[in-house]
Amino acid sequence: MGPADQIPSNSYGHVTVLLRETVSALGLVPGSLVVDCTLGGGGHTKLLLEAVGKSGKVLAFDRDPMAIQHAESAFSREIASGQLSLVHKPFSELASHVSTAGLAGTIDGIIADLGVSSPQLDIGERGFSFLNEGPLDMRMDTSRPGTAADLVNTADEMELSRIFRDFGEEPMARHFAKMICRQRAVKPFSTTAELASFVEKHSPYSSKSRRHPATRLFQALRIAVNDELGELDRFLAGAIPLLKKGGRLAVITFHSLEDRAVKHFFAEATGKSKRQQLGRHVALTETEIDRMVAAKGQVVAPYPIEPGEAEVAANPRARSARLRVFEKF
Ligand SMILES: C[S@@+](CC[C@H](N)C(=O)[O-])C[C@H]1O[C@@H](n2cnc3c(N)ncnc32)[C@H](O)[C@@H]1O
Repeated sequence: MGPADQIPSNSYGHVTVLLRETVSALGLVPGSLVVDCTLGGGGHTKLLLEAVGKSGKVLAFDRDPMAIQHAESAFSREIASGQLSLVHKPFSELASHVSTAGLAGTIDGIIADLGVSSPQLDIGERGFSFLNEGPLDMRMDTSRPGTAADLVNTADEMELSRIFRDFGEEPMARHFAKMICRQRAVKPFSTTAELASFVEKHSPYSSKSRRHPATRLFQALRIAVNDELGELDRFLAGAIPLLKKGGRLAVITFHSLEDRAVKHFFAEATGKSKRQQLGRHVALTETEIDRMVAAKGQVVAPYPIEPGEAEVAANPRARSARLRVFEKF
């Protein structure tokens, strides 16, 4: 038994979502080479290590120094044996990292469990949540500049409004951007509580609404501060060439913006989008269409896999999770 077996999987304070479903979707065997793009508390990493065994290897990325530091001690034995390597980088750099290591085209499986971990949300100091008082920070990578306070206090009104609309799907984006810009000229925002209570005070929504009026704005700021959708696009664009034939890519999303991006990317990579276009406009045979589409792979299940009732009851944060899996031809 390694040290990682002696700690409960949520010793980091994070309960892994769709744990067995995701790892078994990769179809790994002993000796496989696999990448966990989102180490977090190491829940998926731990099961991946078991699946690939002593002859296999796991490469685990996270841009949060806190996750890397936790894993250095939780998985010290696996790191020492060379079974696990930790990489403190954004997963948009996966393709360049793997290519530089000469491993492109040799990977059996890649997992990305998107979004934030529970401690990122729960530790007030990290500044992600309007429920926990702290500096208005929201950076996953605390070693890089650019906090949520910087954004809220310096972005122009149009830019803030666009962020609230595009990343928070906030219908009152313009209203909130205007009020925030007016207020920050008097006193800049510095804490989560200041912003949350300001938004609550100036919210046009009914106070009986179940959702806090700052929910969408906090999601939007978090996505913008961490360039989450840009990261996802760049990661997906580089992922398929890293896989060997039959290798699989599994992505867990937590909101519709992410899920749409993954679904769209898979539709492009499987040739579904192009096949639909060609089928509509041109009289071609199936064989001609197949040749023109040049699919890179196939989607493993026709619908996204979602957590069951028992998982959601035990871990309400799992409720919006959706797992999509792609297999390379
Ligand atoms: C939902 S948690 C992963 C939890 C993990 N699967 C587990 O079982 O404990 C997401 C993690 O991904 C990291 N992360 C999010 N976006 C990232 C990115 N673009 N590059 C690297 N790490 C990222 C976050 O810092 C966080 O630790």
